Amino acid sequence: MADIICAIDVGTTKVTTIIAEVIDADTLHVLGFGSAPSDGMTKGVVTNVAAATAAIGQAIEEAEHAADRSIGRAYVGIAGSHIDAQPSRGAVPIGRNRVVTPDDVARVKEAARAVALPHNREIIHVVARSFAVDEQEDLQDPLGMHGFRLSVDAQVVTGATGAVRNLLSCVQTHGIEIEELVLEPLASGEAVLTDAERDMGVVVVDIGGGTTDVAMFIKGSLWHTVVLDVGGQHLTHDLAVGLGAPFEAAEQLKIRYGSAMADRIAPDQEVNVEVFGESEPRVVSRLLVAEILEARAEEMINLILREIKRSGYDGLIPAGLVLTGGTARLAGLRDLARQMTHLPVRIGAPAGFAGLPDELRTPDNATGVGMLRWALKGQWVAVEHGDRRQQSSFMERIMRWLQNLLPD
Ligand SMILES: Nc1ncnc2c1ncn2[C@@H]1O[C@H](COP(=O)(O)OP(=O)(O)OP(=O)(O)O)[C@@H](O)[C@H]1O
Ligand SMILES: [Mg+2]
Repeated sequence: MADIICAIDVGTTKVTTIIAEVIDADTLHVLGFGSAPSDGMTKGVVTNVAAATAAIGQAIEEAEHAADRSIGRAYVGIAGSHIDAQPSRGAVPIGRNRVVTPDDVARVKEAARAVALPHNREIIHVVARSFAVDEQEDLQDPLGMHGFRLSVDAQVVTGATGAVRNLLSCVQTHGIEIEELVLEPLASGEAVLTDAERDMGVVVVDIGGGTTDVAMFIKGSLWHTVVLDVGGQHLTHDLAVGLGAPFEAAEQLKIRYGSAMADRIAPDQEVNVEVFGESEPRVVSRLLVAEILEARAEEMINLILREIKRSGYDGLIPAGLVLTGGTARLAGLRDLARQMTHLPVRIGAPAGFAGLPDELRTPDNATGVGMLRWALKGQWVAVEHGDRRQQSSFMERIMRWLQNLLPD
C-alpha cells in the first residue's frame, strides 16, 4: 500500500495537484500542492488536449517541486454534463455458515455493474445506496452479518467514453498512472459534509467555474448525483455582455463588488469598470451588477431545485444545502439559496482532518481535498481487510472481459 496519495482536480478554471502522506485513518499530511490556470477545458471537460495537458503538467510540476518528490500515480477528478447515474441492483449468495465479508461486498457491487450501456459510455463508479441481507433491508454496512443472500441497491455512475479517455490521456502523458477516477461531486461531499448531515439528508452543491456538481445524500449514502453545465463563468459572462466589458474585467468586478442579493445594495453605490471602446473606465451602478448576477444565480438555484425533485426522493432534506466551489464565495449567494429553497444553507469549505494547510481550506479546493479523503478511506479499508482493492480490481477486469464477450 502506498502511503503517499496524489489528487489532481482538473477544473474548468484551474488545475490543482495535491500530494499528501497518509499518517493514519483520519490524518493526512500535505507535502505539497500546485495550482495552474486551466486551459483547454470547457464546462468541466477537455476540449483541447494539448492545452489541458500543459496546464495539468504545470500543476503537477509545482506540486512535485513543493513536496520535493515525484509522483507515479494519482486520483483524478471527473465532471461534466456527460456524467449520468442510474439505479441498479445486484445480488450474490453468501455461502453456508458464513458472514458477509468485504469480498462479498465487492462481489455484489460487481453484480450491480451489469447494466446495459451503449458503446460510447463507461462505468466510473458503483456506489451502494443500501444493502440487504436476506429479508433485512436498508443496511448501510452489511459486514459481519449472517445470511444466505446479499443484495445491493446501487447507483451506477457512467461517463461518455470520449470525455473519460481524453482526461486520462492528458494525465497519462505526464507518465502518471490513474489510481482511480473520482466523480467530483462525490469528492466535494467527502471534503465538506459531516456524517450527521449525510445521515439526515443533505445536498452538496459544488459551483465551480464551468460546472455545478450536485450530490444528494440520504441516510448516509449517495442517493443521486448530476453535473450541470453552469458555473461562475456564466455569471462573469453575463456581466461582460451586460456591461460591454472584457471577460477579465467582469471577473474582477464580480469577485470584488458582486452580490447575488440585489436588494442589499444601495441604489447610489457606483463602481468603475473597464469597457470596450472607451479609454477611461466607466462608472456603473453596483445595483445593476447585482441584478445581473442575481438573475443568473436564481436560474442556477432553480436548476438545482429541479434536480432535487427529479432525483425521485420526495422526503425531507433536513440538513439542506451545502454550497462549495469557488462560486460559493459570491456574496449573498447563500441567502438567495435559503430564500428560494426554504432549506438550511451553509457554505462548506474543506475541513475535518489535520495536516491540511490553510490555503487548501477554501471552497474552491473542496474537490481536490475531497479526493484525498476519498483515497484515504479506500486505502484504509484495504489495510483493514487485506487486499480488498486488488481483488476488486481483478474482479473488475474479469467482469469487463466477460461483458465484452456479450452481444449488446
Ligand atoms: N469571491 C468570489 N465571488 C464570486 N465568484 C468567485 C469568487 N472567487 C472565485 N469565484 C469564482 O469561482 C469560479 C472558480 O471556482 P472553482 O475553482 O471551484 O472552479 P473549477 O474547479 O476550476 O471549475 P469546475 O469545477 O466548474 O470545472 C470562477 O468562476 C470564479 O469567478
Ligand atoms: Mg471544480
